[in-house]
Amino acid sequence: TVAALVPLVVAYLVGALPFGYLVGRARGVNLFHAGSGNIGATNAARVLGRSFGALVFALDFLKGVIPVAAAVPMANALAAGGASAFGSPDVLRVGAAALAFLGHMFPVYLGFRGGKGVATGAGTVFVLVPIPAALSILTWVVVLFASRFVSLASLAAATVLVAAHLVGAPAPFCESALPVTLYLVIGTALVFVKHRANVKRLLAGTENAVGEFSMRQP
Ligand code: G3P
Repeated sequence: TVAALVPLVVAYLVGALPFGYLVGRARGVNLFHAGSGNIGATNAARVLGRSFGALVFALDFLKGVIPVAAAVPMANALAAGGASAFGSPDVLRVGAAALAFLGHMFPVYLGFRGGKGVATGAGTVFVLVPIPAALSILTWVVVLFASRFVSLASLAAATVLVAAHLVGAPAPFCESALPVTLYLVIGTALVFVKHRANVKRLLAGTENAVGEFSMRQP
């Protein structure tokens, strides 16, 4: 049991690595005080340029992929008895996903002030539920091109992800759907909570569109 906790703690500590903040700092900018005030890839692209946005997206996405892909082999390596500590390897895998995602949103290194969860969450679901994840990414691209709002694209993608899972899209790595269902439903709710300022701006017609720069807004 103790050995199985190690991948979960590592998942949190990896997820909490604030790449957007660090890349911003390396460029002499504090992303908390620029653009939307978020440390995610969208704001990195807005403030630092698209190449840095792409870099932050790739790093934040990998923070989701790697802990989930590594959780079960890591637990197996630590405990010769295998990864049965939480009943099933699924629980360990979903637990690593949830902790990497929570690490990104609430990083210990920055006083628990983190990002909105989209890139890291996308990395986790890319491994956990690839079919809903692919539909979700397609939705993100379509809504982004149609609306030019990254936030609206992210919220639509999160909604489609949960919907696709709930209507029964296959989850090849999950023997039991309950842990992954709980993660997707609660995770999507958290993504909406983290986007509350975006939702207010979308409703008020003042949200930042791609290609437009605007000063920090609450
Ligand atoms: O993932 C964050 C994105 O949906 C919105 O980012 O910087 O426009 O608040 P931002």
